[in-house]
Amino acid sequence: MSLFGLHYRLERRAIGFVLAIIAVASIGGLVEIAPLFTIHQTVEDAPDMRLYTPLELAGRNIYIREGCYACHSQMIRTLRDEVDRYGPYSLAVESKYDHPMLWGSKRTGPDLARIGEKYSDEWHVKHLNNPRDVVPVSIMPAYGWLLKTELRTDDLSLHLRAQRTVGVPYTDDMIENAARDAYGQANPDSPQAESVSRRYGKETTLRAFDGRPTVLTEMDALVAYLQVLGRLTMAAQKPLADLGGRR
Ligand code: HEC
Repeated sequence: MSLFGLHYRLERRAIGFVLAIIAVASIGGLVEIAPLFTIHQTVEDAPDMRLYTPLELAGRNIYIREGCYACHSQMIRTLRDEVDRYGPYSLAVESKYDHPMLWGSKRTGPDLARIGEKYSDEWHVKHLNNPRDVVPVSIMPAYGWLLKTELRTDDLSLHLRAQRTVGVPYTDDMIENAARDAYGQANPDSPQAESVSRRYGKETTLRAFDGRPTVLTEMDALVAYLQVLGRLTMAAQKPLADLGGRR
């Protein structure tokens, strides 16, 4: 019997046909659902994972506001050429505290998942202010106003609180001191600086990101964010055998 003959006969048995459709469609469902039962073994642990500081979170919000994600992805795929170009491929756990995630698939510019500490702060400030100053052929837009715009900090506590609502473990202490910590991180010689590393860990970078310690600008926040990309945990830098999930 030809294939069309078989189909013709199936179509004449409505209930049997519906059951056949359900059986076939459920294969797709099983393929998607079954791996979730073993998610604890397949998703890596990252005990060293730290949280975004208020300044970095503010930078992340600016990154979203300015639409940087429209040209830059933040996910290195498991392909040889990607790993050669950008570094170890992205792990699920690295986006654990990213709400919303910014993986993306559109790359007019390079992937930024591991851009942290690849360039100096000064390079980033120059580049964002006018990309053509450091990369003559760049087609990236200039973001000159970031250096001139003071960072709004009075709403930072609310941003931290919103992140906590969706599962990021910010403490009351962190939420209360968000504005103070944002200032301290970009002004390492100020009295506010010391408590930032106490609250967020000694890996936190305390620097005058935009080159001017006393003023807190949107540039400080965005550069602080770019410099921490790919550095919240070192899990991806370790050989696979060391990863928690594959013990
Ligand atoms: C219209 C597309 C476009 C937008 C929007 C855009 N970029 Fe870019 N970006 C590029 C291109 C193209 C390059 C490569 C040329 C260069 O280095 O300037 C680039 C390069 C970069 C680099 C250097 C990457 C590397 O590995 O050398 C960084 C960092 C960067 N962009 C950050 C940002 C940030 C932050 C924003 C938002 C404020 C942004 N970009 C918005 C297109 C864009």
